[in-house]
Amino acid sequence: MFSSGLLHRPCVSSVWRLFSTKCRWRSVTTRHHILRLSHSVTGCRMASKKLLVDVDCGVDDAQAIMLALAAPNVQLLGITCVHGNTTVENVCKNSLRVLQACNRLEIPVFKGADRPLLGDGIDAGHFHGEDGLGDAPDSNAPTLDLLQEQGAVPAMIRIVNENPGEVSLVATGPLTNLALAVRLDPSLPSKLRGLYIMGGNTESRGNTTVCGEFNFTADPEAAYIVLKDYQCPTYLACWEFTCYNKLSWDFCETWLAQDSHKARFMETIFRHSIQACKTERFEKELVAGTGFISCDSYAMAAAVDDSFVLESDRYPVSVELTGTHTRGMMVVDTLGLLKKSHAAFIMKKVDMEKFKQMMMAALK
Ligand code: BDR
Ligand code: CA
Repeated sequence: MFSSGLLHRPCVSSVWRLFSTKCRWRSVTTRHHILRLSHSVTGCRMASKKLLVDVDCGVDDAQAIMLALAAPNVQLLGITCVHGNTTVENVCKNSLRVLQACNRLEIPVFKGADRPLLGDGIDAGHFHGEDGLGDAPDSNAPTLDLLQEQGAVPAMIRIVNENPGEVSLVATGPLTNLALAVRLDPSLPSKLRGLYIMGGNTESRGNTTVCGEFNFTADPEAAYIVLKDYQCPTYLACWEFTCYNKLSWDFCETWLAQDSHKARFMETIFRHSIQACKTERFEKELVAGTGFISCDSYAMAAAVDDSFVLESDRYPVSVELTGTHTRGMMVVDTLGLLKKSHAAFIMKKVDMEKFKQMMMAALK
């Protein structure tokens, strides 16, 4: 049953159960309307959202974290760190730097996997800077003494078990920590409110290899395990989707020009990537013309606000593990040939006005 993952959401379950028997894999605009309706009918919409965020803190992860911190009704339970854009040590340091910039160092940060399940790691230093945050010196950066003693994977399991049915897990890096967590605790996905992932692609457009998006390509086996074993409501902000919904450079300028410490921090760490975006190589990557793409912020916005996603496709998804050019590419099973028991929501249309507001608030 493709609806099973949603049934543990008490405030939407009955409405959803009625609807889901009729609707399987298809474009699900209506489903989002029903979800919103059921939330306002039951009053659940105003309830505080508990978020746990798994990041490989590069610049867009930083933007996503800041978006969540600025959102009313969001409780950020912790940040778990994973290798990816840079080393996991840098990721930890960067997460602490972001929290410091937002005056929220009380939020616990946990160190996780330093490499993929198989093979060697890759990084995205050419885009995010070698240190992941634009290689901008920061003499006041918090030290790693502030990290929690518990590792990211046990922390993820503990936090979800302490808040059963309430946590939305947002993953904006390679999925290594999530794959390890579900191997240690197979019941973990059934206790999540939802899973929001930035990663994968739908039109085989790569930003790292010919057909591979960075987060899935950085650990294809982990992505495979997560898409198979997390049978909870799963929302994907895939690469091409983020490109089709990019913001303008004019918006970016106004965004960074806000008179605040957070905006100045962002301007400093973002400079390197802005330069990179305007090179020929990146302009080719950006699918539908140039502009400002804060990839990870779309997954975060969807977790923060249930009314953000206006239209999704709903299909079973997997990851290519063996292709010469396609290892790490997301596979969308539109025909249902994989006989999978779970389908993900692949974001198609989102409320861009809301997105701009959330982004602006992030740097206020
Ligand atoms: C993803 O890759 C990383 O470099 C970004 O932080 C984002 O999560 C985009 O493909
Ligand atoms: Ca990321």
